[in-house]
Amino acid sequence: MTARLVPEANDPIAPRAATPITITVNGEPVDGVLGQTLAGVLLASDILAWRSTSFGDRPRGAFCGIGVCFDCLVIVNGQRDVRACQRRAASGDAVVFHRDAPLGPSGDR
Ligand code: FES
Repeated sequence: MTARLVPEANDPIAPRAATPITITVNGEPVDGVLGQTLAGVLLASDILAWRSTSFGDRPRGAFCGIGVCFDCLVIVNGQRDVRACQRRAASGDAVVFHRDAPLGPSGDR
C-alpha cells in the first residue's frame, strides 16, 4: 500500500485549502499562498533573480534557500537586507528589489 492509497479521511497530514495572499513586487501585485516565504512567492511567479551584485551587476535570487548565502536580499516594507528565503510572506508586503551601486574606494556608495 502506498501513501496515495490512504483515504482522505485517514490522511494524517490532513491538507487544507491554501489561503491566497497578495504582495507587491516593485509595485506590481503578485499572488502567493499563506505560509510561503517571499522567495517562494517570487519563484512561483517565475521571478528568478531580484538582486544584482555590486560589482559586475550579476543577477542573484535564491541560492541556498536556508538563510546562509544572503544572495536573496530584498527590501520589505522599507526594511533593507531582508533574506527572502527566511521571511514568510504576509498579504500586503511591499517588496522592492535591491540594486546597490558599487562601493567606492573608501566604502562609500
Ligand atoms: S537564498 Fe541563501 S540566504 Fe536566502
